[in-house]
Amino acid sequence: IQEKKETIIFRLNNEALAFFKLNLRTNEARSAVKYLKERDINVEDIQFFEIGYLPKNNSLVNHLLNKGFNISDIVDAGLGTYNEEKQKLYDIFSDRIIFPIKNENNEIIGFSGRIMEADSDRPKYLNTRETKIFSKRKIAYNFSEAIKSARIKKEIIILEGYMDVISLHKNGITNTIALMGTSLSQYHVNLFKMIKGTVKMFLDGDEPGIKGNIEAAQTLISNNQKVLIVNNPTNNDPDELIKQGRKSEVEQMIAEALNPLEYIISKKWNKVDTKDFNSVEEFMKEVCSFVLKCNNQILFETSIEELENITGLSKESIIDFYKKISRNKN
Ligand code: UTP
Ligand code: MN
Ligand code: MN
Ligand code: MN
Ligand code: MN
Repeated sequence: IQEKKETIIFRLNNEALAFFKLNLRTNEARSAVKYLKERDINVEDIQFFEIGYLPKNNSLVNHLLNKGFNISDIVDAGLGTYNEEKQKLYDIFSDRIIFPIKNENNEIIGFSGRIMEADSDRPKYLNTRETKIFSKRKIAYNFSEAIKSARIKKEIIILEGYMDVISLHKNGITNTIALMGTSLSQYHVNLFKMIKGTVKMFLDGDEPGIKGNIEAAQTLISNNQKVLIVNNPTNNDPDELIKQGRKSEVEQMIAEALNPLEYIISKKWNKVDTKDFNSVEEFMKEVCSFVLKCNNQILFETSIEELENITGLSKESIIDFYKKISRNKN
């Protein structure tokens, strides 16, 4: 009988991971080891997160072929590309530090490779392309570990990158996952239901991170998930803050996470020029459309009161804003 493609890809991924881990112990991995050290990633972290390395001589695909895997399966696993003309199989993740990405059942679904030094010709990260078992929208890095402490604390913290997860983990904050980007999907909403607690959004402090926090909150609230947002007033990500020796600030930010309405108001209001009507209108549009997308009556009521207080507008005129925005959407 024919083995299912998914099963073959899982087997290939396991074989690849073992190979990546082995390679981090070779002389060729010197610059990778140096890089990890610079980022304060120690031996225990390397073991726990199963970090590896792949050199640049197509050694992985050759290893897999030697193990008896065939070309089309290696290509379908996203571990190699085949050049028809040259009739040769090439590695995809060459000369990168490799992080395995697992699903909620702790099975390896794919990999992410990071270059060791800035290079304008190569992207900083390379992820497994879409395969039968790997989909960009279905990544929750570290979920199978995080769920253990998240269930006890009744709280899960959502970060952007795996470096942020590793950094917080080694500092005792283990209930975190990374989206590996800023977009949160229905897949994540469903995973978080397993926690039966609060979701704390803690994306990077820059504009894309703020936008991602707000959009994630909309998705979560409209799915009746309790959510708070960590207000990171800096431009840095959690890993950078830890690196700067600001661990206690990070802990405080997490402990004092805001409700999403407070968060969006505080992020947007300080950019408003109160003497400029257009600027106030823009603010109202942003907050009101956020509230409408959340589709939650209590939030709607609360927002009217909050907006009265902060803008000085009357209740009637705030409700007019809401009417105008929902009209424009239809
Ligand atoms: P960031 O752009 O915030 O990563 O992307 P970073 O903090 O600069 O990364 P380091 O600290 O220098 O290593 C956050 C996450 O988004 C995904 C990666 O998973 C990354 O961890 N990402 C980002 C990609 O997959 N591809 C990209 O090109 C960029
Ligand atoms: Mn970046
Ligand atoms: Mn970022
Ligand atoms: Mn970042
Ligand atoms: Mn970072």
